[in-house]
Amino acid sequence: MSKEVKTFIPKRFEEKYSDLLGEEFPAFLAACKTKLPRSVRANSLKISPGDLQKRLEVQGIELEPNLYLPGVFMVKTENVQLGQLPEHQKGFFVVQEVSSMIPPIVLDPKPEEVVLDLAAAPGMKTCQMAELMRNKGAIVAVDVAVERLKALWFNMNRMGILNTLVVHRDSRRFYSQVGFDKVLLDAPCSTEGFVRKRPDALKGWHPNLVLKKSHVQKQLIERAFSVLKPGGVLVYSTCTLSPEENEEVVDFLLRKNGNAQIEKIFFPGFKFRPGLVSYKNRRFHSSLDKTVRVLPQDNDSEAFFIAKIRKF
Ligand SMILES: C[S@@+](CC[C@H](N)C(=O)[O-])C[C@H]1O[C@@H](n2cnc3c(N)ncnc32)[C@H](O)[C@@H]1O
Repeated sequence: MSKEVKTFIPKRFEEKYSDLLGEEFPAFLAACKTKLPRSVRANSLKISPGDLQKRLEVQGIELEPNLYLPGVFMVKTENVQLGQLPEHQKGFFVVQEVSSMIPPIVLDPKPEEVVLDLAAAPGMKTCQMAELMRNKGAIVAVDVAVERLKALWFNMNRMGILNTLVVHRDSRRFYSQVGFDKVLLDAPCSTEGFVRKRPDALKGWHPNLVLKKSHVQKQLIERAFSVLKPGGVLVYSTCTLSPEENEEVVDFLLRKNGNAQIEKIFFPGFKFRPGLVSYKNRRFHSSLDKTVRVLPQDNDSEAFFIAKIRKF
């Protein structure tokens, strides 16, 4: 793991995770205080991974292929402005953190499907899904934040995405006559996992923020599930580890919808921890252990939570 950086960690955050993780807490805290490795994903709509590697290495940028994610490279050279490179402007690659690439892979959108991305901006996962769908089928990408939608629009154009319709809306009020085959809800969260990217990311962290996010997430997941076709799949993800924003939200959905079932997530090579079936005095549905938690120390990545839910 890379070297330690000066990181702001609130006392109450430390207490929460010390209780939650027990003897794993020191390794977790140490990982939170180290810089996140950078990674890039080749845009398969425009270039092969091999050609991208050649083009960047000619410019002195050392890349190491990620063993588990095809078309993904870890960037070994520091202090290079990846966003300024002509290959970035031409949409040959995106800078994307490895754990954030997993939810679209778990959702597995197919070229013939109709897919909804309910918290889409700035569009890293929308673009990844469009690539997986080979620019076919259709994606509806929704977000409430105009400035972030501009970034999504810019990214889509740069990456050559043609199958996506962008909608500016509060997704809690997203209704549709069409049922979706797949829905991704990469929910707005307290962004605890961001701390390795931005050492001051936890400055605004507070237990009340977590509860506020949890409330919105429950409204969003209900909407997401309601527009899914029978047989369809919803992937719920966050870049945070608070059980209130993760297992509690999925548990809320399961209790309200007898036709929602959690499915196991397979992703060889990446270390996952099972989702919690209880937290403090709360008991969650026993199938919550099929959801996955990504701890930052396990794969030298951001923290993440992912749940795969099928509608019957
Ligand atoms: C974790 S980010 C999504 C990142 C995105 N999926 C990606 O991979 O680039 C969460 C997004 O949810 C959006 N958001 C927050 N509340 C929302 C709401 N009520 N309806 C729709 N979008 C919302 C935020 O503007 C933000 O862009």
